[in-house]
Amino acid sequence: MTKVITYGTYDLLHYGHIKLLERAKALGDYLIVGVTADDFDRTRGKINVQQTLMERIEAVRQTGLADEIIVEEYEGQKIDDIKKYGIDIFTVGSDWIGKFDYLNEFCKVTYLDRTQGISSSEIRTQKNALRIGIVGESSIIDKFVNESQYVNGISIIGICSENKQCSPQTSKNISLLTDDYNLLLDYVDAVYVVSHPSKHYSHVKKALEAGKHVLCESPVAMSTKESDELYHIAKSKGIALVDAIKTAYSTAYSRMILLAKSGKIGDIVSVDSVCTSLRNVDYNDTESLEKTWSSITAWGPTALLPIFQLLDVKYSDIRFVSRIGNDKYAYDEFTKITFEYPNAVASIKVGQGVKSEGELIISGTNGYIYVPAPWWKTDYFEIRYENPSDNKRYFFQLDGEGIRNEIVSFLRIIENHGYSYVSEKLSRSISFVMESYLNRNNFVKLHQAT
Ligand code: CTP
Repeated sequence: MTKVITYGTYDLLHYGHIKLLERAKALGDYLIVGVTADDFDRTRGKINVQQTLMERIEAVRQTGLADEIIVEEYEGQKIDDIKKYGIDIFTVGSDWIGKFDYLNEFCKVTYLDRTQGISSSEIRTQKNALRIGIVGESSIIDKFVNESQYVNGISIIGICSENKQCSPQTSKNISLLTDDYNLLLDYVDAVYVVSHPSKHYSHVKKALEAGKHVLCESPVAMSTKESDELYHIAKSKGIALVDAIKTAYSTAYSRMILLAKSGKIGDIVSVDSVCTSLRNVDYNDTESLEKTWSSITAWGPTALLPIFQLLDVKYSDIRFVSRIGNDKYAYDEFTKITFEYPNAVASIKVGQGVKSEGELIISGTNGYIYVPAPWWKTDYFEIRYENPSDNKRYFFQLDGEGIRNEIVSFLRIIENHGYSYVSEKLSRSISFVMESYLNRNNFVKLHQAT
């Protein structure tokens, strides 16, 4: 009996897949089809696969062409499978020519002609093609545009900025570059808001009122009243409003949160996060200061994320200590916030004028989790115990600092089959912290050395 094996994602099964499977089957007597697992797909850059693994397996099963279906979960698995199942022929489409020649050592490798004119990527693109516009001025625009290329089904068509902010490389591929927000809104289905935090509320509100989905860099608003209003508009219109904190979407971070919540370190008693990045701020340059994100707005939402995700948002006390300039905008070079909960404490330290070790430490009754600097874009963390031989290290691939997954998640929410990793409750609590800070509640101002 000649055994044949082939692999693929088989998302939105199309006739190109069926023809491939028919020809693969005809090569022998028994066909095994390896369907690629979601996680493995991500590492290969196939992002925004529309169907779940179970749906894709079911679609392959329904072709009636596979004698056996297996799941492909890790790199190098093909060699294992060939040996395990006693495979005689490995086959894939001609788009992979040469790529699997190394398997010749284990079985015969045959590349079959790919059916022209159809692919899952094309179907995904045609199906959704969500037109996204960006409003604001930030270095993150370049990253966002770059990361969007890994996601099927969206196209960044315009940027609205007060001044030219993206690189020439980025702007080359954008058809609409404007300073007219209304014009941008006319041409898009969704906007990514990355303007100065003081403008988020008005930019988000305008977009929502125009019926556009919104992904907004956190904080979405500088008060809970504004935040509530925005989420209310979004709900009443049935459109998406998503608070964008890219760290929430990085694999290592989200797995770390799940492990912490599952009791790996016992009861969580303290969460301490630090985020700093030194910036050269000219306090005499009023114009540029007005456009600069303060330390609390630039870093606060990210630093608050693990605290609110692990300890919830119902703290009993909050205190601020801040080193603030004497400028009109009261730019904070450094801010420390402490939280008291009935059973825990937490703190954040954020700064753009003060440098520190950007680590995250979650202390528990059985051990602690240590995420090294820069924890907000880490691919690794450790769970440490009293006995160091019990320590465990965890590694995960970091794709695009979380931005790629954030875009996919935004798309899924728009298509009504996803959820935001940054909940509305969390987003609102971030706005509340911003509001408390601006109102100088429980506030100590640090004096600058003269
Ligand atoms: N295939 C084919 N002809 C097509 C599309 C796919 O022969 N028009 C083959 C591929 O070469 C592969 C198998 O079908 O052997 C599964 O491919 P998969 O990657 O799941 O499908 P694509 O449509 O190529 O997906 P994508 O566009 O996301 O790359």
